[in-house]
Amino acid sequence: MPPVNLHQYEQIARDRLPQMVFEYFWGGAEDEVTVRDNRLGWQRLRLRPRVLVDVASRDLSTTVLGQSVAFPVMTAPCAFNALAHPDGELAVARAATACGIIQVVSTAGTHSLEEVAQAAPDGLRWFQLYCYRDRGVTQSLVERAVAAGYRALCLTVDAPLVGRRDRDTNNNFGLPPGMTWKNLESVGLDRMDADGAGSALVKYIAEIWDASLTWEAIEWLRGLSPLPLVVKGILTAEDARRAVDHGVDGIVVSNHGGRQLDGTLPTTEALREVADAVAGRVELFVDGGIRRGSDVLKALALGAKAVLVGRPYLWALATNGQAGVEHMLGLLREELDLCMALSGRPTIGSIDRSLLTSPDA
Ligand code: GLV
Repeated sequence: MPPVNLHQYEQIARDRLPQMVFEYFWGGAEDEVTVRDNRLGWQRLRLRPRVLVDVASRDLSTTVLGQSVAFPVMTAPCAFNALAHPDGELAVARAATACGIIQVVSTAGTHSLEEVAQAAPDGLRWFQLYCYRDRGVTQSLVERAVAAGYRALCLTVDAPLVGRRDRDTNNNFGLPPGMTWKNLESVGLDRMDADGAGSALVKYIAEIWDASLTWEAIEWLRGLSPLPLVVKGILTAEDARRAVDHGVDGIVVSNHGGRQLDGTLPTTEALREVADAVAGRVELFVDGGIRRGSDVLKALALGAKAVLVGRPYLWALATNGQAGVEHMLGLLREELDLCMALSGRPTIGSIDRSLLTSPDA
């Protein structure tokens, strides 16, 4: 019997994956308060459904930065997908494309961005960027993403250094033989071997990412390509306004799944604040703890154009490769469809803030 919800995929993956891998994907920073709070944030929001609305047919399709998608979910830019399944990012590309949604492909891919594009040539995908100290490295990633037909760049801004992740330290997290940061092979920055001395990721990032990045980088990146630029990792009204002033096309409200600074506000609260500040000037997206169709509905009601799911697709990938990811995305779609029917919102456009109680209620 296949899993009936996303939680069941997590259970299966927990049993199947080596501890080092499961805990790298599952874990968060410090005491993992934010990992829990993200989930609780969605659970605590209360819906105000309307009745006697004709919901006999529903339409979940929408647009994301001008591209039509089948439903408002995207796969988040998780690192090292091949740790979950040998097909890694390629399987996710095929599954996302089969489901008619956008895949956000990580710089930290275990397949190159070109291989991912070739795996599902008709698919829609964004390229997530980390900025390297050597700007030429980042520039060449941007040029490759443009050449390979990616539709947007997504700059992660909440990771000047990697968060304090005790599980990875205890497990001596690193990549097994034969697995690398495939996108960085041509510049010799692809190796992150487990060396038995704590987290190899911490060392990799501290050595080569640019912790001095500021808003100036947004201007620089915008000048490098014609692609829309989305920033991922904003949690406050102040930074959201600043991002809009710097001409970004979209914002992913995110605390990196609780993997960076522990104790931040959950993304539900951050999304409410950011949506109020941005007032529709750019498209908003959100991630962190989304596991149910009702969570997606709540995210759209708060002002998101779409949500990103990360860990659930890794669990589904570990369970059954491409078919698992497709099935998992299908579950989320089915749940959202039913929630839309039960809340009297037959189209994405009919979902608005009036669907939620006020935060003080
Ligand atoms: C990388 O982005 C991570 O969160 O491990």
